[in-house]
Amino acid sequence: MDMKTVEWKDNSVIMIDQTKLPNELIFVEYTDYRDVAEAIKNLVVRGAPAIGVSGAFGMALAAQQSNAMTKEELIVDLETAYQILLQTRPTAVNLKWGLEKTLDIAKQGKTISEIKNSLIEVSKKMAEDDITINKKMGKNGSELFQNNDTIMTHCNAGALATVGYGTALGVIRATKESGKNVKVIATETRPVQQGSRLTAFELKHDGFDVSLIPDTAVGYTMANGLVNKVVVGADRIVQTGHVFNKIGTYQVATMAKQHGIPFYVAAPLSTFDMKSDAEDVIIEMRKGTEVTGMGDTKTAPDDINVINPAFDMTPPELISGIITEKGIVKPPYEESIKKLFN
Ligand code: MRU
Repeated sequence: MDMKTVEWKDNSVIMIDQTKLPNELIFVEYTDYRDVAEAIKNLVVRGAPAIGVSGAFGMALAAQQSNAMTKEELIVDLETAYQILLQTRPTAVNLKWGLEKTLDIAKQGKTISEIKNSLIEVSKKMAEDDITINKKMGKNGSELFQNNDTIMTHCNAGALATVGYGTALGVIRATKESGKNVKVIATETRPVQQGSRLTAFELKHDGFDVSLIPDTAVGYTMANGLVNKVVVGADRIVQTGHVFNKIGTYQVATMAKQHGIPFYVAAPLSTFDMKSDAEDVIIEMRKGTEVTGMGDTKTAPDDINVINPAFDMTPPELISGIITEKGIVKPPYEESIKKLFN
């Protein structure tokens, strides 16, 4: 995947419309930050690092759109944009990180034109850094994988979930680039199928040996020796090492523990939330129609009650290591995560 998931070009934000993949590769262009907010909400762009950078680009657009005559008025406009963008998705902390960083930079600016320019520059830099960080993370994580490993991954933590290269899939890419031969098992990841639509697409496109399984086959593949390592991404990691990621991650981690299979998480420092405890994290609940149908086909009775959480929490005792751009964090997590930020 050499194209960028999200990018700033000529005063607009360009994104791959991930809702259309794998059937169509369509790029969408936004010049209004409210449309970027809608795109985040509707999963046109998704994946924690990609929505972090998209949020920052949204703030840069909001600054360009503002008709403020004073710095103070511009900050008020940016605070409004911050709230609208923040409210789109509550679980991935990267979104807040991207929004806070841009708002802070704006507050430090002296003139309107300085603020407008600096928001473009800082958000473009965040996009570039994302790829550099993913490559570092990939190199660090590749040491954990051996020749002929079959690695399971859940959801999509690839180039499409970031600006490019990926976190968990970045580790798999770097392992292959280091000369090791690896196979991948991708879970389909119901209900929105980021695994089959995005991970399988991305890895197949890049020439990986990838097999797709239904989410319900995780236990079967592990019990039958078809997998020997797992690596997933994260939407938020709190200081105790509790990992919030796509719904079903907890099941994969529990199964891995049951079968003695190492379970790794790959995430940049921007995914760590040092201010919240596990119980403070809001799990996004999504609409029932994601569960009651597949595409346009209805697969459930009318008016059925649906519980559709988009994320779950994996406790630290199920995690063998957390791969970051600063190295691999091992248990006890409370201590090692603290060290990571010192
Ligand atoms: O609902 P999504 O598609 O935004 O969920 C994405 C995930 O859960 C990813 O695993 C996570 O954001 C890590 S992406 C590098």
